[in-house]
Amino acid sequence: MAEAPERVIIDCDPGHDDMAAILLAAWHDRIRLEAITTVCGNASLANTTNNALRIVEAFGLDVPVHAGAVQPLLHRYDFPAAFHGPSGLDSAGADLPPATRAAQGQHAVDAIIERVEAHPGEITLVVIGPMTNAALVLAKRPDLAGKIKRLVFMGGSSTEGNVTPAAEFNIWADAEAARIVFRSGVKLVMFGLNVTHQTRLAQAAIDAVRAAQPGPNPAADIMQFYCGTYHAFAGADPRGAPLHDPCTIAYLIEPDIFAVEPRPGEVIVADCESYGQTLIDLRPQDRKHDTRTMNVDVAMSADTTRFTDLVTQALIWAAKRYATTSKTRTQGAA
Ligand code: RIB
Ligand code: CA
Repeated sequence: MAEAPERVIIDCDPGHDDMAAILLAAWHDRIRLEAITTVCGNASLANTTNNALRIVEAFGLDVPVHAGAVQPLLHRYDFPAAFHGPSGLDSAGADLPPATRAAQGQHAVDAIIERVEAHPGEITLVVIGPMTNAALVLAKRPDLAGKIKRLVFMGGSSTEGNVTPAAEFNIWADAEAARIVFRSGVKLVMFGLNVTHQTRLAQAAIDAVRAAQPGPNPAADIMQFYCGTYHAFAGADPRGAPLHDPCTIAYLIEPDIFAVEPRPGEVIVADCESYGQTLIDLRPQDRKHDTRTMNVDVAMSADTTRFTDLVTQALIWAAKRYATTSKTRTQGAA
């Protein structure tokens, strides 16, 4: 008998790769996307929420959007407009139409609490932006750590950082929140830069998305913008740009795309060069005498071909779906 789909809430800061993760979840029948919650991260909360609403509407997704934390618990920083553009979701061509619907009135933190409380052990919380909302959920209701099925997140690294040599952006943006989550006891599955720098979107994949749907194609053009800014910063790479956030969803769809290891993990919050580093203990120890707490399952490698195939199929689906919804929108306006 087919397994029931994964019941998922995506907490995000759209964000180009956030959009790819949302579309992958919306496309695949192994995922039941129950809600999207937004957080300040790649851009202001107003922008990340507006971007989530535009994504949901443009691609015809029947998913409620709840706005969350306006700012990190403590850290303040300038938004990375160089990567995602001033809006947080700039396009290299066709853009998503303005949203006509507003976010839900219920705050993201309360929406997550309500759904987890109503369905203990069934909801997977996917966090692909700073962990501010997740930390507030666990600070307000520590008892829910055992009722969230698992918290699958893009963040941190067991090797290099990106925003600093030591820290990855999602963790660095709110390291205090991440430390609360790492210490909460919730089941954690981590997709850090050590693996997401392997999972890339090549130009050929974007070209395939564009070829699949002639005419206005924001799915292709928005990903083109992201790859362009990445190469402008990191230098051109024939493998394409790292596609971080969709790893979390690809794992829920096909877990064996990734090799995952239980490890001790901690988040550095001291005001120093390592602020926001995820300290993953990779030292080998004889299991019989290993008293360390393995609080995080860390993805260490990926089948990049299977990953790219999944994401490309989802973006092609989205490109066609956009064409259909925009036709409906145009007819409705006539
Ligand atoms: O470091 C990568 C992460 O930062 C991704 O979630 C991307 O969307 C940005 O938020
Ligand atoms: Ca993100």
